[in-house]
Amino acid sequence: MAPIGVFDSGIGGLSVVVELLRLRPGTAVRYVADQAHAPYGERDLETVRARAEAIAESLLDRGATTIVVACHSASAAALDHLRERLDVPVVGMEPAVKPAAAETRSGIVGVLATDATLEAHRFAAVVDRHARDVAVVARSCPGLAAAIERGDGLAVERLGGGYVADLTARGVDTIVLGCTHYGLVADRLARYAGPGVRLVDPAPAVARRTLEVAPTVDDGPLVVTTTGDPRRLRRRLGALAERHPVLADAEIEREVGT
Ligand code: DGL
Repeated sequence: MAPIGVFDSGIGGLSVVVELLRLRPGTAVRYVADQAHAPYGERDLETVRARAEAIAESLLDRGATTIVVACHSASAAALDHLRERLDVPVVGMEPAVKPAAAETRSGIVGVLATDATLEAHRFAAVVDRHARDVAVVARSCPGLAAAIERGDGLAVERLGGGYVADLTARGVDTIVLGCTHYGLVADRLARYAGPGVRLVDPAPAVARRTLEVAPTVDDGPLVVTTTGDPRRLRRRLGALAERHPVLADAEIEREVGT
């Protein structure tokens, strides 16, 4: 049973896993939440790259056939590097500016993301390639991923509501979720944005792409490991499973030695 290996700084990348298991229920997945080193979005790119490399190697040691960098910040820091070094397919996240630019009617697209993602060369390249004919308003969201990570609904409302309002005040009608954590609270962000605004989450496209490029896709459990506290993760997954029942079956372990 060879799993698909997925990682993020924390629980955000589970938004990709949920889509993967929706497309192909029963797929063997091994997921690493690097909670001892979160948030990635507020760390320097070298640190995040080193973490990404160590985690990808631990997933390969566990037999992963494919690596999914289910984190925009880690993709910005390490995707090219991992693709050069690893012999398996590596799928990553890119802010979904291309579909947003195709869909906007106001001609103004918003992006919510971490500082690390917005500062990286990859983001400027995506805007340059896919959004020449529209305006792109980027809003960095300090604290939002961390609030989602700890399940702090009030902070999500205060921060998320504020960041979304900054974008809608600028006339955006399409908002790209440029951090996988935000996908876990997409319904709330959509409520703050109001009915005229569409949210674009790249998780479904990344899940589809993963199943296309994986050399084999086996059946097996969803195993979630953490470099942090497994008991805390268990509580958090329990709450998330109310909205995403597929997470209720996850086996939770401590990630050792990574
Ligand atoms: N989920 C991550 C992302 O997509 C990062 C959140 C963080 O650790 O700052 O960027």
